Amino acid sequence: MSQENLVRLIKEQIKIENAFKTDVTKQIKNIHNQAAKLLLLETQKDSEKHAMILEGILSAIDQKGAKLLWHTILDSYVDKEIVRRNLEEHVETEMAMLKHIEKAMKETKDEGIRLLLEHIGRDEKKHHEILQTVIKQAYKIKP
Ligand SMILES: [Fe+2]
Ligand SMILES: [Fe+2]
Repeated sequence: MSQENLVRLIKEQIKIENAFKTDVTKQIKNIHNQAAKLLLLETQKDSEKHAMILEGILSAIDQKGAKLLWHTILDSYVDKEIVRRNLEEHVETEMAMLKHIEKAMKETKDEGIRLLLEHIGRDEKKHHEILQTVIKQAYKIKP
């Protein structure tokens, strides 16, 4: 697939995400069920998040020339070793959040609450994996 096609598709996706977000924001006020409202809130925030990441991809495509995204370097005076250590701590925190949510899930028989907690748990698992990937790809200790 050509770069122009990718850029076009990403731009279209941003429009869809933004339109969805605006739509759901309007509708959310009229939703009378609390579980439904919270689930819709999740989709609204995810759309916001997706649009933000897609914008980031667009600007990376714009600046990176022929480089692959993992190979792009941002100018920074920050000590990479300190950043890596902080990220490793976050890996632990995400794991702790996941375990905490799993405990909370056992404390309720309410299906709506369980579903919402389960979604958060899935996010925590994903966050945990994201941090591990970042450390592995961008902060691995070079021999
Ligand atoms: Fe999305
Ligand atoms: Fe998290």
